[in-house]
Amino acid sequence: MSFTLVRPAVPRVNRSELAVPGSNPKMMEKAATSGADVIFLDLEDAVAPDDKVQARKNIIVALNTLDFGASAVSVRINGLDTHYMYRDVIDILEQTGERLDLIMIPKVGKPDDVYALDMLVTQCETAKGRTKRIGFELIIETALGMQNVETIAAASPRLESLHFGVADYAASTGARTTVIGGPSKDYVVLTDQLADGARQNHWGDMWHYAIARVVVAARANGLRPIDGPFGNIQDADGYRAGARRAAALGCEGKWAIHPSQLALANETFNPPKEEVDRATRILEAMKEAQASGRGAITLDGRMIDAASVRQAEVMVAKAKLLASKKA
Ligand code: GLV
Ligand code: MG
Repeated sequence: MSFTLVRPAVPRVNRSELAVPGSNPKMMEKAATSGADVIFLDLEDAVAPDDKVQARKNIIVALNTLDFGASAVSVRINGLDTHYMYRDVIDILEQTGERLDLIMIPKVGKPDDVYALDMLVTQCETAKGRTKRIGFELIIETALGMQNVETIAAASPRLESLHFGVADYAASTGARTTVIGGPSKDYVVLTDQLADGARQNHWGDMWHYAIARVVVAARANGLRPIDGPFGNIQDADGYRAGARRAAALGCEGKWAIHPSQLALANETFNPPKEEVDRATRILEAMKEAQASGRGAITLDGRMIDAASVRQAEVMVAKAKLLASKKA
């Protein structure tokens, strides 16, 4: 291990992150009982400019009156380049109680963006005597944000998670796609001739680099990496496939931009029971091995060493966190 220890952020179950427009009180009411791990009430892109002020008022009412149960609650504020942002923060922190858990900051480009928000939130919290520290969720969704993701991920002790915002990222990088997430028929490798003389298109994942980079920056700073939206709400299989790819790379959850995507996110990011069982067996076997002075052993024909133990510990810790949410 490095002498630099990575301290994990506030632990939170974050398999599903449900997006709800702040301009729609009925949808916020429904979302409150959805059981999503995190619900984010949106003031940014789901709200038209003419509705921004009313949406802010709606969110204040929602935070003061709705019962969100065991869900964590976040508000996505407007970007730092807009004149809405400072009032989003001040009005919400001054006019609501302690129910809010997180603020989601969109289009973060530099660590200074986070610093500025940290200062404003700290002043509001102190002035109002708020006792619960608000955490930050950051969306990495611009070329600038991706370029600076490593320093952004270390910008404040309030940080909890980094989210990959595929739609804005595509726009910012000029990627040739107009759908939200998912593969592109242009992002393929054409094979050489196969045995039968035919050639095949092998589809690649055009978001692999971006997600992998967000995962590394997040994990190196103890944060949760979360995959963003998948736009085709009719395509459950496409959603599942994207969520599985993200989970395979280390993401802890994915956005649901429609309630129908919630169960898909939860089921995909639940660690499979057989993997948790195997992880538990690895930990038990290793404990026995250590007691008898051995550093590496085999279990079910596979080699197990200290790195396998760390993987198993991550899996078991995740299962315990989930169990604590269900309880
Ligand atoms: C999310 O905000 C996105 O742009 O994908
Ligand atoms: Mg966006």
